[in-house]
Amino acid sequence: MNISLVQKSAKKLQTDLLVAFAITKKGKKDSEVIITHDELHTSFKKSIASKEITGKSGEAVLFRATNFFDEVHNIVIVGLGDESEITPEILRQAGAAAQSQFKTSKASSISVDFDGVPSKNSNTQYVQAFVEGLLLGAYAVDHFKTKSGKEKTEAVSIYLTALKKEHTEALKTAITLAETVNFARRLGDSPGNLMTPTILANEAVAAAKGTGIKATIWNKARIKKEKMGGLLGVAQGSDQEPRFIILEYYGAAKSKKPLVFVGKGLTFDCGGISIKPSAGMEEMKYDMCGGANVIATLIAIAKLKLKVNAIALVPSTENLINGSATKPGDIHTARNGKTFEINNTDAEGRLILSDALCYATEQKPEIIIDAATLTGAMVVALGNIHTGFFTRNKDLKNKIDKAAESTGELVWQMPLVDHHVADMKGTYADLSNMSSGKGAGSATAAAFLEQFVDSKIPWAHFDIAGTGWSAGNRLNYCPKKGASGVMVRTFVELAKQYENL
Ligand code: BES
Ligand code: ZN
Ligand code: ZN
Repeated sequence: MNISLVQKSAKKLQTDLLVAFAITKKGKKDSEVIITHDELHTSFKKSIASKEITGKSGEAVLFRATNFFDEVHNIVIVGLGDESEITPEILRQAGAAAQSQFKTSKASSISVDFDGVPSKNSNTQYVQAFVEGLLLGAYAVDHFKTKSGKEKTEAVSIYLTALKKEHTEALKTAITLAETVNFARRLGDSPGNLMTPTILANEAVAAAKGTGIKATIWNKARIKKEKMGGLLGVAQGSDQEPRFIILEYYGAAKSKKPLVFVGKGLTFDCGGISIKPSAGMEEMKYDMCGGANVIATLIAIAKLKLKVNAIALVPSTENLINGSATKPGDIHTARNGKTFEINNTDAEGRLILSDALCYATEQKPEIIIDAATLTGAMVVALGNIHTGFFTRNKDLKNKIDKAAESTGELVWQMPLVDHHVADMKGTYADLSNMSSGKGAGSATAAAFLEQFVDSKIPWAHFDIAGTGWSAGNRLNYCPKKGASGVMVRTFVELAKQYENL
């Protein structure tokens, strides 16, 4: 999809497909539906009366081969809901809704009447969100089908009479964000045999090329030398070599402390000797989504040239069962010297993250953020609606809420207190990888991770087990089945808050 901005009115255009918007206005009795393109409003009076067009947010109605105008072949009317309640998120969903009709229409040149989007203040955020919706909505998991639905590239022109420089910036930002989110999704959607730790590392190196990011990959020998006993312990059970991926971006003075993003890069999790049930096990190819999403975050930060220093760290391995696999009862030593006993080999994410968090701490960072498909308990608690996050730092919590508010990604702070830490004490080692208590499995997992972060460093852990994939029932810009790329946009927005600190 090629998207451009045109400083012109969309009235009296000649185009394959015209996208216009419908809003509702609260009236005394019913709410009134208005198509914000006068000519169309008059022509579609009947469709409004018969409720084919309701103006509800999320609605996109395609009229094909219209006879109304010689110069407009197809028309898509996209609902934005009540005009006083329009938000960027509504525009994001409007973009995805409009996009879903492009394929059906077979149009290749598309014009959007953006003057028809009501806005009280600047509408640059709306342009950004709409474009994000178009591109995020266009992502499909068809890379592995021989007859992939690869569409001809559509040219989308967004008509805006009051076009300013900021709109062009917003367009660029939207394209970068959507492309990096779609990149993260592609990594997540790749199956375990085609997304091994080595392949994930190669993908990170390839994506970093030309962005100014320095990529360093540690192999098994180096990981051993670096005393990453957690990562090695899990990797023992796999014939694939583990990798430790380091991406570094310097967009500010070297003296400025970096923002460190850590992601779980478990390319397939069968549970190890504490094996998972067969049903649904294939979904565990998604266990590297945290890693994919922080790699994508760093690529976006670099492409947007944010004035921050940022590092992404991804410990990557499979959790499998060869003859050398770690066993329940085994004890391993993390990079900071803390020991842990394995009481369930399926609680492996926290083990590989322990070393990465130690390394993150050593970077003396401004903040540490980690993302991991860490616990089934998170899915039970919040489903695929909110991403739960854990932090004991109020300032960081506020910054996260602010970032998520602006991107429309739903987050929810979860509790983390000393009681959770107490539940993770080991019998034979410093720590156990399983809680001795009942319930609160996501919080006790977070408490385990906390043992590897210097308490003076603001840290937040995002458990994306519920939102990392198949989050699309409500969000038309996320695939119904497939990786979501969740938190990439929010992490970038969070990074922006550190530009001028
Ligand atoms: N990768 C899983 C967590 C997971 C489960 C993510 C379902 C998404 C959907 C993780 O490695 C795991 O298996 N965790 C265990 C921990 C338990 C053994 C303490 C879990 O949540 O059951
Ligand atoms: Zn597991
Ligand atoms: Zn896992």
